[in-house]
Amino acid sequence: MRIALLSDLHIGMHRTRLVQPMLDAIADAAPEHIVVAGDLVQRARPELFAEAAAILDQTGLPWLCVPGNHDIPLMNLPARLLRPFRDYEAAVPGPRDPLLELPGLKIVGVNSTFPYRWRNGRLTNRQIARVKHLARTGPVMVVQHHPISLLPGETKELMLNADAALAAYDEAGVDLVLTGHLHHFNTATSASGMTQIHAASALCDRSEDPPNEIAMLDVEPGGFQLTRMIAPRDGADFVAEPPVSLPSRH
Ligand SMILES: [Fe+2]
Ligand SMILES: [Fe+2]
Repeated sequence: MRIALLSDLHIGMHRTRLVQPMLDAIADAAPEHIVVAGDLVQRARPELFAEAAAILDQTGLPWLCVPGNHDIPLMNLPARLLRPFRDYEAAVPGPRDPLLELPGLKIVGVNSTFPYRWRNGRLTNRQIARVKHLARTGPVMVVQHHPISLLPGETKELMLNADAALAAYDEAGVDLVLTGHLHHFNTATSASGMTQIHAASALCDRSEDPPNEIAMLDVEPGGFQLTRMIAPRDGADFVAEPPVSLPSRH
């Protein structure tokens, strides 16, 4: 089974010329599901959410998404505090902490956004307890916008409760943690075999970011294969890198 991993589309500040190549790359790779680790849009406005959902719907595939910090209102304080997810939920129906049970892998979505913090998120103890419970039932990939630790070369401030989540996920047997927010690809596997995948941005047009990319995850007996697909700045297509093997803990 193959899953497309996307993050940080930032629709509204995205490279429009890469939308069709991204859709073509997904079609060529033929995944069965799409997972998006937040920041669907640059600003939380209904028309941008509708555009993001329409792009994902064009794949014809089911997609699971969690909110990112850009998916809640930024400057409109009443909206940010009173109804932060109204426009997100109009485009992304269903729970903000979704669960997708696939053969051989549960995908556990966690909403790490927190309207009371500017960019950084947080996890509640209850959210961490849910992940721990699900991780004990079989292979699990957690998907959330904010990273649970910084890897070499990364400098952003971590969300509240990141250290607790890192320890709890690892101890509970989580296999994979997909996060976004940093716009730089990175992976690291802990001593006990939990792999963090820090996704790059699929489409964001921020000039200081590295090239846009997406990835494909193949779920195989006894492990996973991760294939990055990178769109060079001067290129017009997402080009696949050689796949990398990741361990399973189950
Ligand atoms: Fe982002
Ligand atoms: Fe973000």
